[in-house]
Amino acid sequence: MLHRRRGGRGYAGLVTPTVKMWNYRTELPMRGWPKSYHSVCRGLMYKVAIVGSGFIGSTIASVLASSGCDVDAIDVNERLIAAFERGDCPIKEPGLAELCAKQKAAGRLRFGNDFSRVADADVILVTVGTPLAEDFTPDISHIHAATEAIVPYVRDGQLVMVKSTVPPGITRVVVAERLRQVADVLVAFSPERLAEGTAIRELSSLPIVVGGLDAESSAAAETFWKKTLGVNVIVVSSPEAAEVVKLADNLWIDLNIALAHDLAKLCDALPYDLDVLEVIAGANSLKKGQHYVNILTPSNGVGGYCLTKDPWFVHTLGTRHGTELLTPQTSRAVNAGMPAYCASQIAQWARSRDRLPSSLQLAVLGLAFKTNSGDVRLTPVMPLLDALQAEGFRSVRVHDPMVRKEDADDWGVVLNPSMDDTLRNADGVIFLVGHDDFKALSPARIASLAAPGALVFDGRRYFDRSEIAEIQDLGFAYKGVGR
Ligand SMILES: NC(=O)c1ccc[n+]([C@@H]2O[C@H](COP(=O)([O-])OP(=O)(O)OC[C@H]3O[C@@H](n4cnc5c(N)ncnc54)[C@H](O)[C@@H]3O)[C@@H](O)[C@H]2O)c1
Repeated sequence: MLHRRRGGRGYAGLVTPTVKMWNYRTELPMRGWPKSYHSVCRGLMYKVAIVGSGFIGSTIASVLASSGCDVDAIDVNERLIAAFERGDCPIKEPGLAELCAKQKAAGRLRFGNDFSRVADADVILVTVGTPLAEDFTPDISHIHAATEAIVPYVRDGQLVMVKSTVPPGITRVVVAERLRQVADVLVAFSPERLAEGTAIRELSSLPIVVGGLDAESSAAAETFWKKTLGVNVIVVSSPEAAEVVKLADNLWIDLNIALAHDLAKLCDALPYDLDVLEVIAGANSLKKGQHYVNILTPSNGVGGYCLTKDPWFVHTLGTRHGTELLTPQTSRAVNAGMPAYCASQIAQWARSRDRLPSSLQLAVLGLAFKTNSGDVRLTPVMPLLDALQAEGFRSVRVHDPMVRKEDADDWGVVLNPSMDDTLRNADGVIFLVGHDDFKALSPARIASLAAPGALVFDGRRYFDRSEIAEIQDLGFAYKGVGR
């Protein structure tokens, strides 16, 4: 349990029986000892319970365990827990399987479905899913369920921190008010802002925002992240401010990518030889105020669990509170249109060669929604495959070394396990993700496998200018998004 100083502010995070306790907020020594310092006695930093052990939960659990915490990762999904328990890592994230195995072997990380484990924790992190409901409103039923599941076990002095993305007010109204009926807990919201594919590195380097229900909650949350991850912590004045920070970040990203997509379409439409990446690099050299213009990179679409829903959360909030916000709808419409746009570009190339799409063999490289990730949730590749079919393409082989067979099966996609087989005699080589394996594929290698004169469609591989010249010199056609 974290020690709550009698009558006052301040929490000691990392405390040992042999050194003075410090209030890390003020850096002043505090009086007294923690009521319970079981984790510290065992040489561990904090005892942490993580409720929801999917992508975010299992990643945070593994990273916190490697920082010295004793971690119980809890989930209601029996299949997921069984996989982790038998040593599999069902979450495809670079480095996660190794980190998870190491921390389990060291005895610092356990997976299970026993919610009573939270009783032992100093800190409880809530990382359950918050999907988009069918009517485009946030579905917070998992937050409700997770809160109810821990109600019997929470104790005075524990810090409960919500990491799931939620609309403002949920931490206070759904989590804190319910838990404080049974225990004097500290409560904070701390948005998770890591990106899949680079999650482990980002968890230990990105600044973390926290907003507590009161000063004590904020201080405890701040100390926790500083002591465990050693990252910069930004304390905002309330959980609601921190909740909106997360939505603002994702709205900015989605809108910025939409801007890049519109610029790419403009470069495609203009009768000049334009490369949108060159245009963006030039535009980004402008300093405005404290920062540079930072237009992101266009691709074949936006997918995944966050950017496809969080702008809708913002939109719904506006509507519910009497304000019509136009940017979330705009960014979603632009980005959701990219798969069909790319399919139409590929079909246009076929028509320009007087080839019937139905006579062409396509090799699609990438099913995941993101580079170097195996996550296929809401992947833009699926609507692109559908759009290719609607354009008349019938013969499509798909290869993605990061994606698990069972995840592809869920989409009804049969993955070809061999990149060479996928590329062999293909009339179109369609790069839809930029996995390292695909980046390593040189123009010469593509030429040695694909059919003569094939199209290389660059959705997210981002060949550089000299590689594009090489592709063309080898007798192939190149088409990128806006290039
Ligand atoms: N995936 C990302 O890149 C990312 C990034 C930032 C923030 N987020 C946010 O983090 C949250 C989690 O995202 P995720 O990608 O890990 O989702 P996920 O679906 O991979 O994981 C959620 C887990 O919660 C479990 N769960 C559901 N109800 C539960 C309950 N009552 N008790 C215990 N476990 C329960 C599910 O079984 C699942 O394993 C979401 O709010 C998401 O918006 C995700």
